[in-house]
Amino acid sequence: MPLSNSANSNDNPSGIRKGLTRYGDAEFSLFMRKAFIKAMGFSDSALDRPIIGITNTYSDFNPCHGNVPQMIEAAKRGVMQAGGMPMVFPTISVHESFAFPTSMYLRNLMALDTEEMMRAQPVDAVILIGGCDKTIPAQLMGAASVDVPVISIPTGPMLTTTYQGDRLGACTDCRRYWAKFRAKEIDQTEIDAVNEKLAPTTGTCMVMGTASTIACMVEAAGMSLPGTAAVPAVMAERFRLAELTGRRAVELAKMPSEQALTPGRILTLESLTNALTVLHAIGGSTNALIHFTAIAARLGVKIDLEAFDRLGRNVPVLVDLKPSGMHYMEHLNEDGGLMAVLRELRPLLYLDCITVSGRTLGEEIDAAPVTRNRKVIRIAQEPIFPVGGLAVLKGNLAPRGAVIKHSAASPALLKHRGRAVVFSSLEDLALRIDRDDLDVKADDVLVLQNAGPKGAPGMPEAGYLPIPKKLAQAGVKDMVRISDARMSGTAFGTIVLHITPESAENGPLAIVRSGDIIELDVDARRIELLVDDAEIARRLAELAPPAVRLNIPDTGYRRLYQTTVTQADVGCDFDFMVPAATRSAPLLKGK
Ligand code: FES
Repeated sequence: MPLSNSANSNDNPSGIRKGLTRYGDAEFSLFMRKAFIKAMGFSDSALDRPIIGITNTYSDFNPCHGNVPQMIEAAKRGVMQAGGMPMVFPTISVHESFAFPTSMYLRNLMALDTEEMMRAQPVDAVILIGGCDKTIPAQLMGAASVDVPVISIPTGPMLTTTYQGDRLGACTDCRRYWAKFRAKEIDQTEIDAVNEKLAPTTGTCMVMGTASTIACMVEAAGMSLPGTAAVPAVMAERFRLAELTGRRAVELAKMPSEQALTPGRILTLESLTNALTVLHAIGGSTNALIHFTAIAARLGVKIDLEAFDRLGRNVPVLVDLKPSGMHYMEHLNEDGGLMAVLRELRPLLYLDCITVSGRTLGEEIDAAPVTRNRKVIRIAQEPIFPVGGLAVLKGNLAPRGAVIKHSAASPALLKHRGRAVVFSSLEDLALRIDRDDLDVKADDVLVLQNAGPKGAPGMPEAGYLPIPKKLAQAGVKDMVRISDARMSGTAFGTIVLHITPESAENGPLAIVRSGDIIELDVDARRIELLVDDAEIARRLAELAPPAVRLNIPDTGYRRLYQTTVTQADVGCDFDFMVPAATRSAPLLKGK
């Protein structure tokens, strides 16, 4: 067989001729490439097809991706049916509970890995298989920078099971039962029994945590096929959707470049607004705001926090899933999945946005089956919560903003004034939170410093500070808690997060002292330190420069991370990955 491929011109190479390794002789590079790949048993006719990359994020450390081998097989089947050549390649896989110091510390590394592997290898389109919280955002950040045609498919949520008749799901109920254990309401034997039940199948957390939120937002934004967000990980339908995704990837690869459905074409200001409307309407994870801010920034769209807050004032929470509601992702799937939610949100959405299927969002909503007798999706006139799930706060404690999931907070604490009980770091928190001599009362405000993007580093999900044991044992279930950390999307409580600038950057959070009074007023969108301005200025002036306080090492990934990671309000990406155009980008829209 000749080495040249008639389907490819040298001006616009595709398939196996794409991105030839530089030996100085392109034909020799192709000769070498073919020689090596034939070691895997490929024929010339297989190599003449459009090449569809499939990211393999399987890892023994990632049970949320436990179905990935079967999904890959299904996607390959679809690619082959449509005349493409599937090529599976590995990337980093990041699981929430197997990432030290925290998965967020590794998200940008996964984005870089995915991006550069898509650039380096000859792919005409790529199927992104991800699921656990940071993985889909990382993949889409990378894809946004490369701007090749990609199609995302999540691994899907776990199924639930019950313990003593109580339905359980990771990980809202992990926290609920752990709180009971700390309060001595249940003993070691019982908490061990619960531990066996919380994650009964492979797949992502089955509440409306970060993984489910991201899957819903990606479907709303048009980067995955309809139905892919909610079908449980172990159901046959998920593998049929993977097969369909494989077929569609080949069609994407065959489109002329001027019509290519790349992330830059699909993820517009309008489609990103649709995704953020969904974030409000599903009572989704606060983390998703950071991730979509990072994805949007790579495409030159700035998600302005105040615009996001205004958007939420018109969007009711319609989905009765934990932690804002009562149910689980399998119930959302039974109700018709995300498309049924979008049908209720129709007046609030930009329906003309093109999706990866080639149809508009409006067309997809119209084509989706209608489910009667729904259990968890409310109509707009009878919402779970009258306005969007997240609110953005500002004030002298958070000049660039902070976030609260008020749909999962205690209503009585949404307007609260209390005495600060300050922990200066995660280590300090671990050391003192449960001490009998800790001076703390139920109406105090727990404050955690130095848990932000640079300070921790990696902005861990430590914002859900535990209720001090002595208060938990006295029956206290919630307190106002504030920090520059993140919180798991599965958590609940009156918790103010993402305070920006973070304390390690000498934001005002750094100068809060135990005994100061803090005022939270979610209706007014305020978070204030009630200390006079002169005293605040004096305390800020006393702080050492951030570079001194951070103790950044001379070498290694940690140095790259701590010297370049941005603040939460702009997405916690590496500063060198964000195009300068984003600074003057259009802001988030809203209907
Ligand atoms: Fe992976 Fe929750 S731990 S989705």
